Amino acid sequence: MHIALYRKYRPKDFEEVAGEQDIVKTIKASLSMNKMSHAYLFSGPRGLGKTTIARLIAKGTNCLKNGVTDTPCNECENCLAITEGNFMDMIEIDAASNRGIDEIRNLKDKINYKPSKGRKKVYIIDEVHMLTKEAFNALLKTLEEPPEHVIFILATTEPEKIIPTIISRCQRYDFRTFSLNDMVARLRYISKEEKIQISDKGLEMIFESSGGSMRDGISILERISINYLNEEIDEEKVGFVLGITPTKRLEKFLSLIRESKKEDLIQELNKIYQDGLDIELFFKDLGKACKDLMIKEKNFIEEGIKIIGSIYETLSKFKFEEDKRLVGYVLINDLYRNNFQKVEVITQKSEAIQERSEEPKDIIKYDIGKEITLEEVKKVWDNALKLVKKEKISLMSFLISGYPKKVEKNVIEIIFDNENSFQQEQMTKKDNSEILKNALEKMLETKVTLKFVLKNKVKKENKNDNDDLSEQIMSFFGGK
Ligand SMILES: Nc1ncnc2c1ncn2[C@@H]1O[C@H](COP(=O)(O)OP(=O)(O)OP(=O)(O)O)[C@@H](O)[C@H]1O
Ligand SMILES: [Mg+2]
Ligand SMILES: [Zn+2]
Repeated sequence: MHIALYRKYRPKDFEEVAGEQDIVKTIKASLSMNKMSHAYLFSGPRGLGKTTIARLIAKGTNCLKNGVTDTPCNECENCLAITEGNFMDMIEIDAASNRGIDEIRNLKDKINYKPSKGRKKVYIIDEVHMLTKEAFNALLKTLEEPPEHVIFILATTEPEKIIPTIISRCQRYDFRTFSLNDMVARLRYISKEEKIQISDKGLEMIFESSGGSMRDGISILERISINYLNEEIDEEKVGFVLGITPTKRLEKFLSLIRESKKEDLIQELNKIYQDGLDIELFFKDLGKACKDLMIKEKNFIEEGIKIIGSIYETLSKFKFEEDKRLVGYVLINDLYRNNFQKVEVITQKSEAIQERSEEPKDIIKYDIGKEITLEEVKKVWDNALKLVKKEKISLMSFLISGYPKKVEKNVIEIIFDNENSFQQEQMTKKDNSEILKNALEKMLETKVTLKFVLKNKVKKENKNDNDDLSEQIMSFFGGK
């Protein structure tokens, strides 16, 4: 049978316990001096070794070969039974599963019987804060005057829920989450034993997503190793299994945004897609990367907020779009627009374009067939865009900010806000406009001419917008 790695590597003696060294030291000292307290309270997050150390106390007090000891033999009947978790005098009660009423009653009935195989009966009550009030009170009574042959070890992940009268009767130890070094050292040891070839960076990434819990760290290591049996595991593979976007990619993307290299951004997005990364996740991680950079770099704050804003807006706008690459295009477009340095340049340029595009002489008129109205154009607009999307998906990121405003003698005016001058400019390119033109002509069954115009619009007052937006962004990233 396959045993989960974290169970296989539950420390069998104190030497093997990683981290928590202060706790280990004190408990070892009490064991070697045979001065154990009758009640302990172990508190701290999951997977730090509370149960593990509780069992080691049971071993240390009941080892047949070495007596009461900080170095149990791990060979005698009692040691082996404790390792297996079926030692008669080690009673584990899970308060979370049935709130402990029967168990505590049972405990009170039997507590006075002497241990059957060892020196001490060790009661380990897990998630002790979950006990009912009655069970708590019963426990309190026994804690007041426990028999000589009993050791209580209460464990909890929520110590604040335990009444002070209980706490004051126990020797309390607060377990702390693992440090990077302690966890990596233990994971490296397990990897070696299990012949898992994993890079240091990979182990660090496991630590990051374990939240400092050793059990979680080991479980993640196991999951990854199963995914890449007998392969060398590097950070990319770890990231892939964990669904973490490699930092390098985020950094690259961010620097391309900051340098306004739009073409490169599109290319990079395609690569991300081809490499099988989740695009939505990528952008969320990008948002987080911005947040982190904003903390480090003061002059990035404004830009960072804009980028996070764009990410948030686009992702929520296109929540239901299945092709997330499209969302990426729209986003890139939006990011580009939001890059203020660049915007200034574009605004100056766009005035020139605007003047030009308002000159109707520039437009070559075709022999028009059936004459169409604005209403008709609006009706087919969405479907025409679908055709465009099929033909050249990236055009959607330009067209998303334009809409048909006027139709006269089959000249369709498509209007863009001033801030979208880049999109407008892109659409005036012949290759691009042809695609939309063809789509519209197909839908309208007549010849049309397209005109892409910038709307003369004063800067939006966006004070309220911003407040609202930042609030939404915050809730989106779950931050404060
Ligand atoms: N300090 C540690 N040193 C080495 N391994 C550890 C340590 N703490 C936890 N582990 C690993 O994690 C597993 C689970 O640990 P344990 O059951 O002791 O955690 P816990 O603190 O009791 O967690 P919970 O609150 O979820 O019960 C162990 O089997 C072991 O593999
Ligand atoms: Mg436990
Ligand atoms: Zn022993």
